[in-house]
Amino acid sequence: MLKPGAIGVFDSGYGGLTVLSEIQSLIPQYDYFYLGDNSRAPYGTRSFDVVYEFTLQAVEKLFDMGCNLIILACNTASAKALRTIQQLDIPRIHPDKRVLGVIRPTAEIIGSVTKSRHVGILGTTGTIQSESYPIEIHKLSPDISVIGEACPMWVHLVENREYDDDGADYFIKKNLNNILSKDPLIDTLVLGCTHYPILLDKINKYLPNNVTALPQGRYIAESLKDYLARHPEMDAVCTKGGKTRYFTTESPQKFSEAASIFLSKDIEVERITLE
Ligand code: DGL
Repeated sequence: MLKPGAIGVFDSGYGGLTVLSEIQSLIPQYDYFYLGDNSRAPYGTRSFDVVYEFTLQAVEKLFDMGCNLIILACNTASAKALRTIQQLDIPRIHPDKRVLGVIRPTAEIIGSVTKSRHVGILGTTGTIQSESYPIEIHKLSPDISVIGEACPMWVHLVENREYDDDGADYFIKKNLNNILSKDPLIDTLVLGCTHYPILLDKINKYLPNNVTALPQGRYIAESLKDYLARHPEMDAVCTKGGKTRYFTTESPQKFSEAASIFLSKDIEVERITLE
């Protein structure tokens, strides 16, 4: 029998807060533990084995802290670690607990968003190289053409708070031009990285009118709500006190300062270690 606990939300760093805030506003009644592995972020350029190892450590930690359900809010972790964790690790370590990712819920809605049936994915190098988006989208909508573009500088622009500077325009324009020249029929660009919604104003500045940038947070939140409605046994072991605790593997002060960009509020942060 599982003991009730908070829902875990994991990201390599701050970016997952864009997903958490959508979840909190759609289903505020639950308790959440947010964990950012800031001391080892970014994950985007790390190898498959390392992202898997770090993500599994985070999942085991959140399970130990009492979470029964965890959302991997990080696209890179969802792309490189989720499948192995779901198929090999969960049955071994906690068969009744669950870990969900962000790529499948995005793939599920994309068919109803694109009209041209040409979609672009913007993500970290790891997410794009994994081909996880085309694989998941083609399972549900085989007719959709999917082109990826790695935007390795974009996370750094956000992490270093340079997202409003003129320098940011150069990288944003460059990656948008690249992907739209690879396929001019694209009408929907998935922001396939948790940091990218912070760049949305600048992204929209350089997009033609017929192309829409799609942040995923809202869809992840809706998918989680739907999951809990379809799994009452899991819903029953998710505590409902409306509280969120924030954990980082780096400095709590640094985390709470940076988190103000993502959440527009002050938060208390606790430090933990992963191994
Ligand atoms: N959170 C990661 C993602 O969504 C981006 C940051 C990183 O590279 O760690 O892919």
